[in-house]
Amino acid sequence: MEIKSYLNNQQRIVEDGLQALMLQATGPFFKHLEAMRYSLFVGGKRVRPILCLATGQAIDNRPETANNLLPIACALECIHTYSLIHDDLPAMDNDALRRGKPTNHILFGEAGAILAGDSLLTFAFELLSREKNNTLPAEKRLRIIEMVARAAGPLGMAGGQALDIDSEKTAVPFPVLQTIHLAKTGALITCSVQAGAIGAGASPEQMEKLTIYGEKIGLAFQIVDDILNVTSTTEQLGKAAGSDANRGKATYPAYFGVEQTKIMAKEAIEEAIDALLGFDVKADPLRQLATYIYTRSN
Ligand code: IPE
Ligand code: IPE
Ligand code: MG
Ligand code: MG
Repeated sequence: MEIKSYLNNQQRIVEDGLQALMLQATGPFFKHLEAMRYSLFVGGKRVRPILCLATGQAIDNRPETANNLLPIACALECIHTYSLIHDDLPAMDNDALRRGKPTNHILFGEAGAILAGDSLLTFAFELLSREKNNTLPAEKRLRIIEMVARAAGPLGMAGGQALDIDSEKTAVPFPVLQTIHLAKTGALITCSVQAGAIGAGASPEQMEKLTIYGEKIGLAFQIVDDILNVTSTTEQLGKAAGSDANRGKATYPAYFGVEQTKIMAKEAIEEAIDALLGFDVKADPLRQLATYIYTRSN
């Protein structure tokens, strides 16, 4: 299987899912809905929803399972998109370019962007709870909702973002740097894997292994983001290159240099793939996604 065509295929599935589930921009809330839709459909690699679907497929590749997981996968992308809109705000990273296009607040204003983020986060939980056209038992759904709430919340993404901002221009110790990365980015990626696992009926042993896989690729994902911020161009990334150093962000390259950081990212990816020992060929997409997270160029 070629990872590029696999990704194209899965991106299309996620895109169609989002198009079907997302509210249309009509009626009195037109402008607000347009702001939500702008960032959601402006692009993006769709890594988190693809991981959710691929994890489900690694355990149970029946269409019913994929159908049950699609709204969950889309909810994860809504939460991720909200996190990016808020991450780019002037009060946070103050970025004007995202996914190759102007950031949300550049087009819709700061208040518009804050509220578009708020609504994407809240709408995600509507999608997670919705039972229509879905056979996922309520008990599993509730476990997923709790897991997603925890990953997005104070000890997960939002908490990590707070720590990231507080650590600007300060010499944080390595454990804090690691905590920032595991929380701001790792938590939602790990939870995307875990949600797919729960939705597909993973055993406790499978869950344990997949959690390790998720944590390792989640950490590696942010480490690679740090590397690309140093080594790539704004055109290639579709967002500002060199911005981490300008803002004095706590990053792996700032701490270890680019070469050592690459080795650390590769190690995390190898550990992730090792965690999948015992899974059959249905987990091959997960193995390839791990490699892609290391080799990606944007
Ligand atoms: C960027 O995430 C922000 C991080 C958590 C590092 P992605 O690299 O997944 O961004 P998109 O969704 O493809 O734009
Ligand atoms: C992104 O961190 C983490 C979240 C949005 C949760 P960064 O600020 O490092 O990501 P980019 O480089 O802006 O995408
Ligand atoms: Mg940031
Ligand atoms: Mg940023």
